[in-house]
Amino acid sequence: MRNLDENTITEAVLARHAHAGDERLKTIVTSLVQHLHAFAREVNLTESEWEQGIRFLTDVGHITDDKRQEFILLSDTLGLSMLVTAMANRKPPGCTEATVFGPFFVEGAPAYQNGDDVSNGARGEPCFVSGTVKGADGEAVANARIEVWQADADGFYDVQHAGDDTHRARGVLHSLADGRYHFRSIVAEPYPIPHDGPVGRMLAALGRHPWRPAHLHFMIMAPGYERLVTHVFREGDQYLDSDAVFGVRSSLVAQWQRHEAGTAPDGTSMTMPFSTLEFDFVLNPSA
Ligand SMILES: [Fe+2]
Repeated sequence: MRNLDENTITEAVLARHAHAGDERLKTIVTSLVQHLHAFAREVNLTESEWEQGIRFLTDVGHITDDKRQEFILLSDTLGLSMLVTAMANRKPPGCTEATVFGPFFVEGAPAYQNGDDVSNGARGEPCFVSGTVKGADGEAVANARIEVWQADADGFYDVQHAGDDTHRARGVLHSLADGRYHFRSIVAEPYPIPHDGPVGRMLAALGRHPWRPAHLHFMIMAPGYERLVTHVFREGDQYLDSDAVFGVRSSLVAQWQRHEAGTAPDGTSMTMPFSTLEFDFVLNPSA
């Protein structure tokens, strides 16, 4: 196989995969090669542009470590994460919609009981979160595993604070027998995705801002139901219609009610203003 040119190279590459053992892998790589080649032809990609592309991807790799996940940021900001999420989560009406996982989930979040303060010292105005986990037919889902994680008042997740490995504003709790859950945390604030790296430079070059509207992340799992990975967004946030990662669904936007100092929902006497958020999750039964 010699003398390949710009018209014959694509078929030659695909032919080389004829004996791939994994059919699904073959399907994916075949399509990827076809689209990559079509893309290069469509924009008439120059050698210096491709070198720039390689440098960009190299930078994305170099800045990525166990705490900074630039590849997820890249996928998120190009809309690929939300596309994959949307295709994987075609749920019946009434079920809570899914959205992007994001780059700030970490394994090993601390376990909490209902009523505990998951902020664990993270900076922010207190917020009391409660609701019910239900199934699609309205049945309460008891003992659902609820994992929550969020940014602090400065717009940072715990993992972004260098030199401090304490888990803050993230935790795992379980719904009660009647499906209810409640915990204390802090008010979610909007934050820019990390934009001091190659993805940030890409956004700036494209005239895009890096901001995400305020949200809480949730991952909810219960036997007999599909896993739900989603956010709850704060009504009124200025970035709801320009989320840097395209994750906002109207059904996931909720009111944070602000209260002056007084008695909190759990009976705590609050000497400072606080907020409350009530949000019910509806899980889709497993197929
Ligand atoms: Fe987030």
